[in-house]
Amino acid sequence: SHEGYESFMHKEILESHLAVRETLRSMMRETEIVSKAIKSLSEARRIFVVGAGTSYHAGLMFALRLQKAGLTSIPVIASEHHYFRATEDDAVLVISQSGETMDSLIASKHYRANGARILSLTNTLGNSISHESDIALHTRAGPEVGVAATKTFTSQVAALLFLSSNLLGEDVEYLKEAEQTVTNSLQAMGYALEIGTQLCKKSNAYYLGRGLGVPMALEGALKIKEIAYIHAEAYPAGESKHGPIALVEKGFPVVFINLGEFVGELSNNIKEMSARGAETIVLSINNRLSDNKELKVWREVSVSVSDTRLAPLAMAPLIQAIAYYAAKCKGVNPDRPRNLAKTVTVQ
Ligand code: F6R
Repeated sequence: SHEGYESFMHKEILESHLAVRETLRSMMRETEIVSKAIKSLSEARRIFVVGAGTSYHAGLMFALRLQKAGLTSIPVIASEHHYFRATEDDAVLVISQSGETMDSLIASKHYRANGARILSLTNTLGNSISHESDIALHTRAGPEVGVAATKTFTSQVAALLFLSSNLLGEDVEYLKEAEQTVTNSLQAMGYALEIGTQLCKKSNAYYLGRGLGVPMALEGALKIKEIAYIHAEAYPAGESKHGPIALVEKGFPVVFINLGEFVGELSNNIKEMSARGAETIVLSINNRLSDNKELKVWREVSVSVSDTRLAPLAMAPLIQAIAYYAAKCKGVNPDRPRNLAKTVTVQ
């Protein structure tokens, strides 16, 4: 049963703050294994970050954070690992909620055979991927029944913020507000309902972002595709004018992820889209782009964060809830998307 909730997906989104709290508690408590992991990553020549689907998006966020700070970090889609060769000097972080995804397991074995050091971040104990790794780290989201990754993704993001901040020598004090950030996001559910219900009427959408907004856009588009069967594409916002904009006409929905970076450029992209009649939706932190009266914004929701590094945590439950409410509006079961399995054990 869903224990009084409408569905497991709904329940699991609403548990995200607890999942994040438990994940960060365990990261801070298990100092021995965590410092081993940080040491190993910091000694590596390059850090490969491997995952599939939603776990890849969490990994991309992590890799971008490291890259921006000057570390060499390579995001790898698990099934495409053949074209990214690792050596003994490299470390590979494999991210998988289930710990059983065949593509990720095979990538992990492949990199192990190359002599690279393997680390894993999974949400279950004793799974195949953690068994294949030298250092096994865990998120503590608790069991996730809905096929779509929700609270496990948000927990991966929290764990990866913790690891990346440690690697970059940042103070992790700001993560004390991680749970509150997720709670703030959950308090914006009324907006998610309104936006999801609007997207429900559409057959296509774009999700656009810049910087760390790109992995969040990818995740938003994936979720609404798989749960609500709405065709959605994600692009770096700057790329949208190099082709995708051709499809935009009156009423075409474009969801902008505004994490507070490159705000001027993002505002230009909003103008370009609304000039073609797009229905623009903005998911923001702290600032509201729609305060700028030159921008035509259909709806904007802003989640407050005490530190901009928390922005991905503010976005995660919101994009999931938008997909959830779009599915609800369509009358489809969000827990059982067609053609998908919770654990994908084929290549
Ligand atoms: C999306 C989703 C999938 C998984 C992917 C990897 O909601 O659930 O994209 O993220 O199949 O699964 P794990 O994390 O178990 O390796």
